[in-house]
Amino acid sequence: MNTLVLGSDHGGFKLKESIKSHLQSLNIPFIDTGTFSEDSIDYPDIVDTVVNHIQQKEASQGILCCGTGIGVSIRANRTKGIRAAVVHSDFTAQMAKEHNNANIICIGARTTSEKDAKGFIDTWLNTNFEGGRHSRRVEKLDS
Ligand code: RB5
Repeated sequence: MNTLVLGSDHGGFKLKESIKSHLQSLNIPFIDTGTFSEDSIDYPDIVDTVVNHIQQKEASQGILCCGTGIGVSIRANRTKGIRAAVVHSDFTAQMAKEHNNANIICIGARTTSEKDAKGFIDTWLNTNFEGGRHSRRVEKLDS
């Protein structure tokens, strides 16, 4: 199993901690880039660290948490080659991989329960990119 990289701001901290327990129970290796408390921080700083781990190939995919998943996704998607998707259902988690080949998923702690978040992560990890016509579209996303 390839290593994941995790990051959150204060709003996503508790959700990230719960996701870590879930990954540990599945024996999935991960790097935790913080944050490490509920003290207020600026989410772009954490996102940049997560993206850097993927660019350096220290992790193949990432999970980002903030209050809504929106702020972290906006920042992550500024980097070429990063395809960060906000997921809010099993279907969006599945499509994020199957059609968009998302290498980061973003989850909102104020919009998603810990139980649902774990399910979305499992779906995303267990889904394969479909390729075919989607390869051309993903290439355009990355260009
Ligand atoms: C922090 O208050 C909040 O703005 C942040 O967690 C996130 O929801 C931003 O998109």
